[in-house]
Amino acid sequence: MSAPDFGLTGVAFVTGAAGGIGAAVAVGLAASGADVACADRAGEGLDRAVAAVEGAGRRALACPVDVTDDAAVDETVARVERELGPLRYAVNCAGINDGAPAESMSVEQFRRLVDINLTGVFLSCRAEGRAMLAHGGGSIVNIGSISAVIANRGLTQVHYNAAKAGVLQLTTSLALEWAQRGIRVNAVSPGYTATPMAKSSEVWEHVKQYIPDIPMNRMAEPEEMVGPTVFLLSDAASYCTGANLLVDGGAVGW
Ligand SMILES: NC(=O)c1ccc[n+]([C@@H]2O[C@H](COP(=O)([O-])OP(=O)(O)OC[C@H]3O[C@@H](n4cnc5c(N)ncnc54)[C@H](O)[C@@H]3O)[C@@H](O)[C@H]2O)c1
Repeated sequence: MSAPDFGLTGVAFVTGAAGGIGAAVAVGLAASGADVACADRAGEGLDRAVAAVEGAGRRALACPVDVTDDAAVDETVARVERELGPLRYAVNCAGINDGAPAESMSVEQFRRLVDINLTGVFLSCRAEGRAMLAHGGGSIVNIGSISAVIANRGLTQVHYNAAKAGVLQLTTSLALEWAQRGIRVNAVSPGYTATPMAKSSEVWEHVKQYIPDIPMNRMAEPEEMVGPTVFLLSDAASYCTGANLLVDGGAVGW
């Protein structure tokens, strides 16, 4: 038997590519052999991600887009295929976190987060899946969270936790709908990861208290999400679909 194939060949699309985990994943996919379309809100972060992919020796495309805008997401994926070629891999990483106690959270705040963190993942998967179905398949990873399976001690983020639980069921449901049509859909669920999101003042004050409760006694670096994501995208994971890979230093085990 030959060694498992963890390499990537073809075009990848990464949402949230200007963020901590998304940028690390975009460069990691490039280092693994993919050309990478980087999608996020327009800005310097997106330009940096594109430059980093090119620095890894692969083709890159800047895709300024709001993942809640269904027509714009569809058009962005179509543009990726026009400019880079058939879409083979996708990582849906765009998300926000703006916590508030449930009793004072407005419906607008709840809806906005669900719109980005859950509906945005659906719209991204829908556009990616349509493209992949048209040319024989592909592999999608949705970035979930430990918050899909626990309520983080000290954090008031009912909308975030509910949306992330939704991302896991969305992943399972799409995986089964497309299982016989060449598309695998899996989730990577990070634990506390040292990105701008986790280091925002509202979250950081709580998170730093709980680091001693993580069995590995530290947060993850964004780059530690790359290997698990590449694995699930690659042919080495050819029989994985609907899986949720916790990447949390053991956090949910305790
Ligand atoms: N950092 C953590 O501890 C942690 C833990 C578990 C899960 N996650 C998840 O990982 C993913 C990435 O988070 P991160 O920590 O890198 O955060 P981040 O804030 O660094 O990155 C998130 C990115 O998403 C983009 N984004 C937000 N709304 C968007 C929209 N409407 N359209 C397009 N792009 C949009 C932002 O511009 C940003 O670049 C998120 O889904 C998050 O929920 C993070």
